[in-house]
Amino acid sequence: MTQHPELTLTENRPFQTQRTDTWWLQPLAVFLGLGTFIVYATFRVFEGAHFLHGPYLSPFYSPLLFGTDAHTVTHSWFGMMPDWMPGLITPAVLILWAPLGFRFTCYYYRGAYYKAFWADPPSCTVSEPRKGYRGENSFPLIVQNIHRYFLYVAIIILGILAYDVWKALWFDDGNGGTTFGIGIGTIVLAGNVILLGGYTLGCHSLRHLVGGVIDLLSKAPIRREAYNCVSCLNRHHMLWAWMSLCWVGFSDVYVRFIAPTFDKVWIP
Ligand code: FES
Repeated sequence: MTQHPELTLTENRPFQTQRTDTWWLQPLAVFLGLGTFIVYATFRVFEGAHFLHGPYLSPFYSPLLFGTDAHTVTHSWFGMMPDWMPGLITPAVLILWAPLGFRFTCYYYRGAYYKAFWADPPSCTVSEPRKGYRGENSFPLIVQNIHRYFLYVAIIILGILAYDVWKALWFDDGNGGTTFGIGIGTIVLAGNVILLGGYTLGCHSLRHLVGGVIDLLSKAPIRREAYNCVSCLNRHHMLWAWMSLCWVGFSDVYVRFIAPTFDKVWIP
């Protein structure tokens, strides 16, 4: 019988490994994908403009707590941005900490960006550029346990984004009222809610929340069904994570750059 060489961590030099496959491809793709998103999201968060077109509100700016001009203030929850607010604070800064915190502390993303950005380790059985291992049971990474609380906020925001889709069905009729219609932007925002729903509702913390604690899940049929649903989404959590990340970025791009010129509206 053929004996496979044992794959072991080596401590001689960083990135040393006996692996012969292209192990570096996945961390590189994560680095480029997440890096691109972070750069774009940072630009948009601090831009503070072009986030509302007709009934379409960019998900980066939802919920819109404060408006920044006469148009956006009509969609805001609490009126105009207060004068005392520092200039760097845009409506997105006020709310984006929640979805970003949710992603940053996600179990999947943690494993992905620890490898891609911190080389901790670069990949399985690849030597890392440090000696000690502190894990997540001491400061600062113990803070990642806050994920379950971000989950609660993310579920609320998911509901708000669904309401944004409803609002994206009602267009200005030119007479001071609204009329029902479906635009490309409506479909884009609806797709965003579906993909974010698949990601959020497949969360490991939610799985524990609906199916954990009790000993016999079979004795709690409703919770068992909920657990099965979350588990079903959870099986492809990585896929949902990337699809929803790309689509939320695309939704913002749509509202920011494309909607004014390319949106077609169907009104019965
Ligand atoms: S574990 Fe990924 S969203 Fe909760």
